[in-house]
Amino acid sequence: MTVTLRRVLPEDLPVFFAHQCDVDAAAMAGFTPRERGAFDAHWERILGGLAFVARTVEVEGAVAGYVSAFPTEGRVEIAYWLGRDYWHRGIGQAAVAMFLAEQRERPLFASVIDTNGASQAILERSGFVVVGEEIGEDGVCERRLRLG
Ligand SMILES: CC(C)(COP(=O)(O)OP(=O)(O)OC[C@H]1O[C@@H](n2cnc3c(N)ncnc32)[C@H](O)[C@@H]1OP(=O)(O)O)[C@@H](O)C(=O)NCCC(=O)NCCS
Repeated sequence: MTVTLRRVLPEDLPVFFAHQCDVDAAAMAGFTPRERGAFDAHWERILGGLAFVARTVEVEGAVAGYVSAFPTEGRVEIAYWLGRDYWHRGIGQAAVAMFLAEQRERPLFASVIDTNGASQAILERSGFVVVGEEIGEDGVCERRLRLG
């Protein structure tokens, strides 16, 4: 199985949109899926902004998802999302490792809800450490992790 990262192309966006509409995946990430207009505006900002980095994850030439880094509240955070067909095969771990080798900015942060064991496992095996935890108004516990 070959996992590669490349720059995001406009034709990848409908695939990412379908991935973020998957309600189980959204629940896993603790994320409310965006409507199409908000999704397009979000990705326009990512692709147009110098401070944003996004890479499409390809598996055997097919679009499997993305990894990105974006500024928020004075920090730079990493985020990633794979389509369900690509889960449980080490692709998330491999994609994050490749992204971290390419993007050398540190410190780098990540936010993960406490039920997302797969995501936290990926981050900790990549060298991130938990630096904080916060329970939101919705009662969901979110962990913040830091690398570097
Ligand atoms: C999170 C996500 C990227 C994981 O991708 P993946 O390719 O399935 O993950 P991997 O196979 O690389 O590895 C995950 C590791 O976590 C482990 N894991 C899975 N569930 C776990 C849990 N509840 N607790 C601890 N470890 C867990 C897996 O066993 C695996 O380890 P292994 O390789 O030793 O078996 C993917 O499920 C996804 O995109 N989910 C929806 C969006 C999302 O949650 N994004 C992250 C937001 S912070």
